[in-house]
Amino acid sequence: MVAKILDGKKLANKILKNLKKEIELLGAKPKLVIIQIGKNEASEVYIKRKINASKKIGIICEVLNFEQSVSQSLLEEKIQQLNSDSTVNGIIIQLPVPEHLDILKLQAMIDPKKDVDGFGPINLGNMFLGRNLLLPATPAGVLKLLEEYKLELEGKIALVIGRSNIVGKPLSILLLQKNATVILAHSKTKDLDKLCKLADFVFVAVGKPNFLSGSKIKKGAVVIDIGINKIKVGNAEKIVGDVDFQSAFRVAYYISPVPGGVGPLTVASLLENTLLAYKIQKGLISR
Ligand SMILES: NC(=O)c1ccc[n+]([C@@H]2O[C@H](COP(=O)([O-])OP(=O)(O)OC[C@H]3O[C@@H](n4cnc5c(N)ncnc54)[C@H](OP(=O)(O)O)[C@@H]3O)[C@@H](O)[C@H]2O)c1
Repeated sequence: MVAKILDGKKLANKILKNLKKEIELLGAKPKLVIIQIGKNEASEVYIKRKINASKKIGIICEVLNFEQSVSQSLLEEKIQQLNSDSTVNGIIIQLPVPEHLDILKLQAMIDPKKDVDGFGPINLGNMFLGRNLLLPATPAGVLKLLEEYKLELEGKIALVIGRSNIVGKPLSILLLQKNATVILAHSKTKDLDKLCKLADFVFVAVGKPNFLSGSKIKKGAVVIDIGINKIKVGNAEKIVGDVDFQSAFRVAYYISPVPGGVGPLTVASLLENTLLAYKIQKGLISR
């Protein structure tokens, strides 16, 4: 048996195409502002992808660059300005940020109607209560992928490995909403191998290449690889996920590749949120 591929790139292109049409129909010019602090190679790549996808579909994407040493107070002032700028529909802070900054405070300051990463306490709290609106982009993208391939979660055991505020925790809540029985594992989890063998769905967001191999997975499980890791192969560099694709491919029922799986859907979901935020702000949708 070999796994079927969950083609995130294809789905993301379909979502972007639909967004483009909707933006044209509305005659809208939604604007996304990305706050970038310092220089980080991975962030540069992610920002470029957001800019390119925005351009394709008619979203204005502006990047505000700040020095690595920027103060908390300057960023708070800037966020307040952006909150009251009616031409700005979405605001995100590109992660990671330098350690001297209180990122949770900065995220909480973003107007919930402009919080298109969905990381602020109001949007996360609403999601926790089942009032989904501006959802964190990566977990939302994962759910879209499962829906596209009609993979039913109800009554299934879903193991999420990794409990970050941006991926693992919100994903576990969304899976619960779909009536999965959710196990949220982390670095202190005991007997992870046993849990893996139980799981019908495994979602891996750990940040370690080859963290999960095929031998650990239950035969016929759905494997969603959220990790994005850069590794060296000889003199070249390569992007891989957290799953050892070659071995998992022979055991899983469905598997998401890296690249081309969850990554493109994160960008598409972010831009979908930006249009949604625009519509909320224009009173086209009520919160
Ligand atoms: N596809 C996308 O669009 C996208 C978006 C965001 C992130 N990512 C990628 O996803 C990965 C995770 O990102 P993140 O921001 O969620 O990472 P993170 O904040 O570093 O969290 C990693 C999580 O993995 C857990 N962990 C570490 N070692 C473990 C082990 N041996 N066993 C079980 N759990 C372990 C940690 O547990 P503790 O909490 O106990 O420390 C933590 O909860 C990264 O590769 C990142 O690049 C991809």
